[in-house]
Amino acid sequence: MIELLPLLGTDFRSGTELARELGVSRVAVWKRIQRLREMGYPVEAHPKRGYRLVEEAPAPGVLAARLPRRPAGSYRYLGVTASTQEDLRRWAAHGAPSGALVVAEGQTAGRGRRGRRWQSPPSKGLYCSVLLRGLPVGKLPLLGLAGGVALAEATGVGRVKWPNDILGPDGAKVGGVLMEAQTNGEEAHVVILGLGVNLEPADLPDHAAALSRYSRVSRTDLLVAFVQRLEHWLDRLDRPGEVLAAWRRRDVTLGHQVRVRTRQGVVEGRAVGVRTDGTFVVRPMSGEEVAVAAGDVELVGQIRTMS
Ligand code: BTN
Repeated sequence: MIELLPLLGTDFRSGTELARELGVSRVAVWKRIQRLREMGYPVEAHPKRGYRLVEEAPAPGVLAARLPRRPAGSYRYLGVTASTQEDLRRWAAHGAPSGALVVAEGQTAGRGRRGRRWQSPPSKGLYCSVLLRGLPVGKLPLLGLAGGVALAEATGVGRVKWPNDILGPDGAKVGGVLMEAQTNGEEAHVVILGLGVNLEPADLPDHAAALSRYSRVSRTDLLVAFVQRLEHWLDRLDRPGEVLAAWRRRDVTLGHQVRVRTRQGVVEGRAVGVRTDGTFVVRPMSGEEVAVAAGDVELVGQIRTMS
């Protein structure tokens, strides 16, 4: 059976045309449209003009036109799914190529860092996972930083907070990057970078905001910009100094007083910055610098407005 989804873009196509291409009746087209909607795809229907995906939908055809160098078949656009990380993990197990992307309209079990949930209401954010293959395990911390820089750059206004938070100019969290890897000795044969960005206001936690508070970026523009910036940084993983410098330029904590909550306890002090091994270095009032490998950082005192 020919699928309807690949025939839908962000321009209207008449029911008659779609019926002809699919070799089915117009009623059958309508039923398939209903099914796509049940799956979470935002399909618009117009009595005269026909059907299309809403303008900001990252439809496969739109993405292929904007990222022409990507191999065909390396992109999956889903309606509402549990977690794009899981979808891509399964696809990777069945041979998805490096660079494969899964984007969903919404997620019912979106994962955040440290076992937290990532709220993913349909059509209110960008929920995306990218597969990378065959990276040295030693490069993973730098890749995590590069992913954060790429996403911050793609938003246009983003700052970063270790390890992978993307903040708006007033310090509210607009997005984050989650890195999950399967390793085999010194090689990470599967690395899945998951990015979540709040684009439109929804029921967000207090410290979070939607990107629409600062700028209007469409989901597709954001996704295209992220892929381009990620490719840029992937080419520079052998030049850690460049990645670190890009991170430092956007780092909201650098030189400020911070509190870092780790599983071992709380560290307070002045943020010295990140290292190529991915650790976050804090200089306490007394004692030696501490390099933290995993934790949550908060700025102590007032949240600062960044220019
Ligand atoms: C964080 O905790 O800051 C990282 C959040 C990452 C969320 C994204 S949304 C797309 C992908 N699928 C998931 O289940 N999680 C990541």
